[in-house]
Amino acid sequence: MEQKLVTAHIGLKFGMSHIEGALGGGAEIAYICDRDPEALRFAGERYGIPEEKRVSDYRKIAEDPRVQAVTVAVPDQQHAELTCALLRAGKHVLCEKPLALTREDARAIIRAADESGRLCMVGQICRFTPAFEKAKEIVASGEIGEVYFAESEYAHDYMYLVDNWRADPLRHGVIGGGCHAVDLLRWLVGDPTEVFAYGTHKLLPQVPYDDATVAVMKFGDGVMGKVFVSTGCKRDYTMRTLVYGTKGTLICDNTSPSMTLFTAGEDGMAHEPETIPVQVNNHNAAREFAVFAEAIRGERPLETDAREGAKTVEACLSIIESSVSGRVVYPDYDF
Ligand SMILES: NC(=O)c1ccc[n+]([C@@H]2O[C@H](COP(=O)([O-])OP(=O)(O)OC[C@H]3O[C@@H](n4cnc5c(N)ncnc54)[C@H](O)[C@@H]3O)[C@@H](O)[C@H]2O)c1
Repeated sequence: MEQKLVTAHIGLKFGMSHIEGALGGGAEIAYICDRDPEALRFAGERYGIPEEKRVSDYRKIAEDPRVQAVTVAVPDQQHAELTCALLRAGKHVLCEKPLALTREDARAIIRAADESGRLCMVGQICRFTPAFEKAKEIVASGEIGEVYFAESEYAHDYMYLVDNWRADPLRHGVIGGGCHAVDLLRWLVGDPTEVFAYGTHKLLPQVPYDDATVAVMKFGDGVMGKVFVSTGCKRDYTMRTLVYGTKGTLICDNTSPSMTLFTAGEDGMAHEPETIPVQVNNHNAAREFAVFAEAIRGERPLETDAREGAKTVEACLSIIESSVSGRVVYPDYDF
């Protein structure tokens, strides 16, 4: 019989989704961890984790040789500290997005992963959203021809979410939440080589950064793209994403039960659109954890490793820098 993966889970708000992913995959949970006793109690009772497995200091997890894999869902500013310490303690780590808020922290995580030989996965969960997985499949199949333009938006009202660590200038909306849209475009069409962005600040006076940003970008081979991030928008959450190809166009998002595919007929004109049903699963933590576990068992390569996370950080920081400087920025993906 296959040995159970022994796991621990740090940060128990969004991090509860990692517990569900681990339990769903049959893992043995050795510890749950949170600094806040109430969060610890709540998650412990919810998932039936006994008191002796509830800890407030992550170092207890690092020190226990039984623990093989750890999920990290603490504020972004602490990702590097915890992830590096856990990797160096010999644990495989699934770290929430964004991998880091600075290039220095991203490099430190890559170094810790390389030197420890352990896996570091970044939780770019949109790569497991059913509509986006389908979009990736359609683009890769060539059905919409050669892609010439792609855009994605991250529109999410943070009005009640930003009275905490999210109101840090380092945690600009483009890297905090917008990294989902940036990572999705990178996954669908590749790394942007040039970016230019504008920002504005009309909705969230409590944050020290723009609450809306639009970036246009160039990819290789004549491909163009656009990302729009609004963290104060007055609408429901969406990551509406469009991919335009020479033979068709895809329109999808993360919250609708279907996506739309236009393809050209023999006359070169677009047919009636095809409606493709998709499961709505905006935070597919089960699939994400399953991929992490399969990579640990050596059953698949890890696509979203620390270098991949760092490249998304680089693209996001380039957008922010352009919006502040008013200049074109050329991201450097040499990690
Ligand atoms: N993938 C997604 O779509 C998604 C969605 C939400 C949040 N996130 C990410 O998840 C992470 C956590 O976000 P959140 O919304 O749960 O934040 P939160 O502030 O609601 O919760 C963070 C939790 O971590 C605990 N914590 C903080 N520092 C700790 C430490 N050193 N040791 C142990 N516990 C600690 C806090 O007490 C709190 O319970 C962030 O990186 C965020 O960007 C990802």
